Amino acid sequence: MVTRKKITTLTEFIMQRQYEYPHARGSLTRLLNDIATAAKIVNREINAAGLVDILGSTGSENVQGETQKKLDVFANETFITALRGGGECCAIASEENEKVISFRDQYAEHGRYVVAMDPLDGSSNIESNVSIGTIFSVYRRLGDTNDPVTEMDILQAGKELVAAGYVIYGSSTMLVYSTGRGVNGFTLDPSVGIFCLSHPNMQFPGNPRIYSVNEGNYVHFPQGVKSYIKYCQEDDPEGGRPYTSRYIGSLVADFHRNLIKGGIFIYPGTERMPQGKLRLLYECSPVAFLAEQAGGKASDGERRILDIIPQTLHQRSPFFTGPHEMVEKLELFLQEDL
Ligand code: AHG
Ligand code: MN
Ligand code: MN
Repeated sequence: MVTRKKITTLTEFIMQRQYEYPHARGSLTRLLNDIATAAKIVNREINAAGLVDILGSTGSENVQGETQKKLDVFANETFITALRGGGECCAIASEENEKVISFRDQYAEHGRYVVAMDPLDGSSNIESNVSIGTIFSVYRRLGDTNDPVTEMDILQAGKELVAAGYVIYGSSTMLVYSTGRGVNGFTLDPSVGIFCLSHPNMQFPGNPRIYSVNEGNYVHFPQGVKSYIKYCQEDDPEGGRPYTSRYIGSLVADFHRNLIKGGIFIYPGTERMPQGKLRLLYECSPVAFLAEQAGGKASDGERRILDIIPQTLHQRSPFFTGPHEMVEKLELFLQEDL
């Protein structure tokens, strides 16, 4: 007789975790399920992207007579709709919206959580069929659930995160998240549309050997980053160097690979963009939260990312994240600036 391994679905897993908190009311469980539902819808659309392009070439309207939307707008609207309908989230900050979107709906208005998100990360990779993602962060609303929500409810340091995660739309689609008790990864079984626990308790592996950086910007990097890159490239068989260079250009995909295989992600400031490119609230902080939960580290070169309180919604930050020892080494190079 063939014995099958018991599958744990994302919903089962979230419920089990909820039972570990005797006072939990199930709000976060419902909110995470809303995110998973939106992810499945976005996944379906992304998988059809090439097809849509072919069909779209005969005219710019789809069967409902709507103009075909760009995928990042579609992803944004899908996540907003799911969270609004779920009623647990009272406001959203998104890369695609200049201001906080606060809900006035009967239930959502009184939701206990706020969400910050990058609905489609790495979207310039869509047309070349390279992995892209969604990043999400969940904070507890600061004010009373009967008071109007303000920007202050969402401008919180990453260390206040209740949950954070990403969805990677790749060779398979995965949802990886943490509520502050480790990182767990779920793979979408497309035949039944269910996320199944495939990567329990994810941790950076030992002996990491990958560095990920857009080296096209090398000449503009701070001296410390340049020296660290040279260090990565130098021969040291005992230290496992030279390291391997891998860069996709989707933070989610680069981080995910580095988490599984062991590597550092580097996006420094440059002379022209001293704060780099990545956004603190919905790119750096959630990824930093996962990195720490996976035994790693995340820094802006001087400070722990999770300690930084954003001053504005779309604020940028230099970002270095990966296994502890790698980020620490890079920080040493930055301090010495040699
Ligand atoms: P987004 O598609 O949400 O704007 O994010 C793109 C980001 C991030 O995913 C990636 O790490 C970085 O841009 C790549 O930037 P470069 O092209 O400058 O390397
Ligand atoms: Mn992004
Ligand atoms: Mn984006």
